[in-house]
Amino acid sequence: MKAVVIRTFGDPDGLEIVDVPVPVPAPGQVRIATEAIGVGGVDAVIRRGTLAAYGFREGHILGSEVAGKVTAVGGGVDASWIGRRVWAFTGLSGGYAEQAVASIEDVLALPDGLTCADAVTLGGSGVVAHFALDRARFTSGETVLVRGAAGSIGITAVQLAARGGASAVAVTTSSVERGDRLRDLGATHVLDRSGEGGGPDAPAGFDVVIDIVGGPQLPRFLDKLTSNGRYVAVGVVGGQPPADFGMRLMDAFRRSLSFATFSSDTVPRPDRQAVRSSHFADAAQGGLRTVVHAVLPLDQAVPAHREMDAGKVFGRVVLAP
Ligand SMILES: NC(=O)c1ccc[n+]([C@@H]2O[C@H](COP(=O)([O-])OP(=O)(O)OC[C@H]3O[C@@H](n4cnc5c(N)ncnc54)[C@H](OP(=O)(O)O)[C@@H]3O)[C@@H](O)[C@H]2O)c1
Repeated sequence: MKAVVIRTFGDPDGLEIVDVPVPVPAPGQVRIATEAIGVGGVDAVIRRGTLAAYGFREGHILGSEVAGKVTAVGGGVDASWIGRRVWAFTGLSGGYAEQAVASIEDVLALPDGLTCADAVTLGGSGVVAHFALDRARFTSGETVLVRGAAGSIGITAVQLAARGGASAVAVTTSSVERGDRLRDLGATHVLDRSGEGGGPDAPAGFDVVIDIVGGPQLPRFLDKLTSNGRYVAVGVVGGQPPADFGMRLMDAFRRSLSFATFSSDTVPRPDRQAVRSSHFADAAQGGLRTVVHAVLPLDQAVPAHREMDAGKVFGRVVLAP
């Protein structure tokens, strides 16, 4: 079968399509003929070699989120899964391939009406958006800022906050056109990447900030919390924040601010699957919206990563073998 491997760490040209053996599902696993493969920010980080310390090596098959039909099951897995349309998390490898294996605990049947491309756009990121708002103890009537809202996590967070009764949903983004698209999804105020703008009626502060960006400007966004405000960092697409960013919280001691990191790895699998299942049903009925930036053939992984690196993606790029 065809698969995309990292031939050389670095820019997208280091990716290569190769022939590899079809994987055999181990006990507790299923094999899926992939119809859609999510291309995520974490794939770019692994491709650059940034996570080499975690054991990622050249030769690694990228990809963690796929959807398609089950073609085989390993020991202990009910054979009735064969032929079913599913979404699956493959770990942080093995997804960019014509066939991928996943643990049955990380597999979910797709409802009618949800495409495989929609599933890989919503499956992983929806869970992050949901639990980030949950960890922030977001409640109806509060003001929310989603920083880095134009990716698949932010797009879902904006919709969940709006539908959850936020009194304002502000976003940061890099262009007017992207801001308009986010308004269409429920944003009420559009700020630039540095947090400026938003119009005369933009809230002066936010009860909740969901931050997908991190990076050197993170302290500026801590300043945007209201008293008792809660900040949840879920991503670092802009890099790590300054080492002393915690001083900003200490300097504002009397405003009782909270800062948390959130990784969906810390949510029990059944809880993740329950939220994902409800998101899939919601999206299949036309409620929650997914934004697929482009669907490209598997052998177009290099241009897909170039688009991502150039910051041109709104929503998610999907590969389709
Ligand atoms: N917490 C978890 O459990 C979890 C799970 C999966 C992934 N993640 C993390 O989430 C992140 C990816 O999320 P995603 O796919 O939604 O994001 P994404 O699409 O990679 O990026 C979101 C948006 O951030 C903006 N942005 C990019 N670079 C920026 C910069 N230097 N400064 C300011 N804004 C910038 C861009 O929008 P504009 O151009 O419009 O500004 C971009 O569209 C990664 O850090 C990944 O590791 C976390």
